[in-house]
Amino acid sequence: EDIVPFHGQHQAGIATPMQDRMHIAAFDVTVEGRDELVALLKDWTAAIEHLMKGADVGEFGATGGNYDAPPEDTGEAIGLPASHLSVTVGFGRTLFEDSRGPRFGLQGRIPAALIDLPHFPGDALEEARSGGDLVIQACADDPQVAVHAIRNLARIGFGRARVRWSQIGFGRTSSTSTSQMTPRNLFGFKDGTANLKAEEQKALDTHVWVGGNTGNEAWMNGGTYLVARRIRMHIETWDRTSLGEQETIFGRTKREGAPLSGGTEFSEPDFAMPGRGGPIMPVDSHVALAHPSANGGVQMLRRGFNYTDGSDGLGRLDAGLFFIAFVIDPRTHYVPMQNAMAKNDALVEYLKHTGSGLFAVPPGIAQGQFLGQSLF
Ligand code: HEM
Repeated sequence: EDIVPFHGQHQAGIATPMQDRMHIAAFDVTVEGRDELVALLKDWTAAIEHLMKGADVGEFGATGGNYDAPPEDTGEAIGLPASHLSVTVGFGRTLFEDSRGPRFGLQGRIPAALIDLPHFPGDALEEARSGGDLVIQACADDPQVAVHAIRNLARIGFGRARVRWSQIGFGRTSSTSTSQMTPRNLFGFKDGTANLKAEEQKALDTHVWVGGNTGNEAWMNGGTYLVARRIRMHIETWDRTSLGEQETIFGRTKREGAPLSGGTEFSEPDFAMPGRGGPIMPVDSHVALAHPSANGGVQMLRRGFNYTDGSDGLGRLDAGLFFIAFVIDPRTHYVPMQNAMAKNDALVEYLKHTGSGLFAVPPGIAQGQFLGQSLF
């Protein structure tokens, strides 16, 4: 079956084996008042339940309604299977804040982990590609199915929530299940080898799922945090660097994805093994800086996608990695690593972070509930 279950302890699209395509959109809510927000979340929940089953949205769908009215469903997914569609909803810090006047009365419910991400060295963030009150991540094995989901959810939100930014990812850059082959990023390297996998229940509880919260933060139990970074990659510069240099930058071989210290793809890197000019795994390699041993043992569930948005008018591809990671707490599981990488990672020279977002992803729901219900 190609249907991802909608109901459950956690939302779909996180530990779900990674699909091939993604369309993610951030929204700003334009209405005020808690009832309006809850109504929007209820409408979205009903639609998402239909979409993930491969069904049209609405009671009458794409063609069954009033002949003199616009159809409830836009129709471009008619005849397409569910394609493992998963839709994941998260809340940005601005949704809670009353700084622009009272909105939904949620100021007191901001989880401490839902911080304003700090400025990282080298950040070149574009306002129009960053932030947002809400995020909706749609992943599927068919791009048309993912785009159909976001389009119809945006349409349902029309007049209530405005799309702030959106991004299409055309290929997964990670694997989140041991049953999957490791895909490659646009630098040509296997990506996702040392990722957390759905099968590692204990590690997910330690590094991804929020649990044990009480009081004002209890609503996040079973949830997680979504870090989004649009990272442009300087493809043309990269393509002029030697194979040796490329492998030194990651600390892994290009074809096999094995650590430079030896073995095969899934061998553990040996950071102490001496080479000619220092350790064989360069200290400024991406893997040396991102490895749990350099980060107090923290791990993250990476679930990013390759993107290409045409070219930039100077003949260069506007391409890169739309980085998505799910973590239990971005203060411990993302910020320190990103800071270390921004300062020391040999890879940084080839990257530019152009968009950013941090969202609290509420837990999954049971039949009859709506997404985010625990917050209200
Ligand atoms: C590992 C690529 C950005 C965190 C890797 C690997 C590659 C890679 C090829 C080795 C294979 C693997 O284990 O998956 C990239 C590229 C990036 C990027 C091309 C930017 C365009 C980031 C960022 C973070 C990050 C922003 C987090 C702040 C990690 C982690 C690992 C990893 C935690 C696993 C390290 C280990 O346990 O060995 N990345 N990465 N990466 N990366 Fe990245």
